[in-house]
Amino acid sequence: MASNPLSSILENSSGSREDLIPVLQKVQAVEGFISKESVGLISRRLKISENEIHGVATFYAQFRFTPPGEHHILVCMGTACHVKGGAQLVITLEHELDAKTGETTEDGKFDLDQVACLGCCALAPVVKIDDKIYSQMSVLKLRQVLDEYKEA
Ligand code: FES
Repeated sequence: MASNPLSSILENSSGSREDLIPVLQKVQAVEGFISKESVGLISRRLKISENEIHGVATFYAQFRFTPPGEHHILVCMGTACHVKGGAQLVITLEHELDAKTGETTEDGKFDLDQVACLGCCALAPVVKIDDKIYSQMSVLKLRQVLDEYKEA
């Protein structure tokens, strides 16, 4: 009966509530995000309300409910980056992109997320766009980098 990857994930789960996080992780690995349809299917299979699934998934920064954007922007909010202005970078990006952390811009070009540490604290504050690390960022530098991606 497992006709698609999502059905297969759900059928291979035990059907208990404890499976919620592993199932969400697998669904996101397959879909790139957790769609509304998936939330409905998970809800029926694990007998957990859609509201509760959203509540649990929102608690973990790794889960997203919107499709990923063309470019993935990750702002480091670890201690080293935070004390050097990481929060200001997030505010700037949310303003420039008109999207909140965890969301994708309306044109689908960017999505924005935060991370606890990118592992290069000496370069703080750090922003990662796709596979590229931008170090010692300032609001001005960030705007310039963003413009390059917007124009590309
Ligand atoms: S705290 Fe930002 S890279 Fe470690």
